[in-house]
Amino acid sequence: MTTPAVPRKIQISPSVLTADYARLGEICVELEQGGADLIHWDVMDGNFVPNLSFGADVIASIRPLLTIPFESHLMVNEPTWILDAMIDAGCSTVMVHAEACRHLHRTLGRIRELGATPAVVINPATPLEAIVEVLDLVGLVLIMSVNPGFGGQSYISAVENKTRRLRDIIIERGLDIDIEIDGGIAPSTIAEAASAGANRFVVGSAMFRDPNGFEHATNELRALASAASA
Ligand code: DX5
Ligand code: ZN
Repeated sequence: MTTPAVPRKIQISPSVLTADYARLGEICVELEQGGADLIHWDVMDGNFVPNLSFGADVIASIRPLLTIPFESHLMVNEPTWILDAMIDAGCSTVMVHAEACRHLHRTLGRIRELGATPAVVINPATPLEAIVEVLDLVGLVLIMSVNPGFGGQSYISAVENKTRRLRDIIIERGLDIDIEIDGGIAPSTIAEAASAGANRFVVGSAMFRDPNGFEHATNELRALASAASA
């Protein structure tokens, strides 16, 4: 028997991966003023993914400029070494890939011990079964709807199937877990991701592409997601 689903808050989490880094601080402030719920930091090690981005010092330098929470998406092999620095930099949610952690259970437990919300991430090719045994440890699951490494890629709608199954498991087990989706989220894709069960949305290039600015993009995306998940 399943319990009725409690609607979860719709949240828009802009990724600054494709921002102009010369203006990174100002852009983060503008995103907050535009109504963003969080800032999503894509941390890449050039090993787990074929790209490098920024580390904890960059995130820490921007933390005092904003009040909204920061989440760090660690595209880093065996990320244990970087957890303390990410949490010290002000990330209240830390996301690690199931594919990147040999001892995933331990790594998630360590994030909790350090005082942040642990989150687990799975790539498009990774089955849900890779994380079902750690759901009790996390506050959020991030479903990748692109292969990680770059912004501006096309949304992979095939991940909606496992998003739906994940939502059903969460409801069945009565767990308090947000489902976030990352990659290719735009006005043309957010409704289907929301109807599959996601309630938090990473938005990278679509946020920067909107000619009417961040506030317009944020409001439009939030409205489309809310309507689709109602
Ligand atoms: C991909 C990153 C995403 C990405 C989102 O490796 O995890 O957060 O930058 O960008 P868009 O929305 O452009 O796909
Ligand atoms: Zn990301």
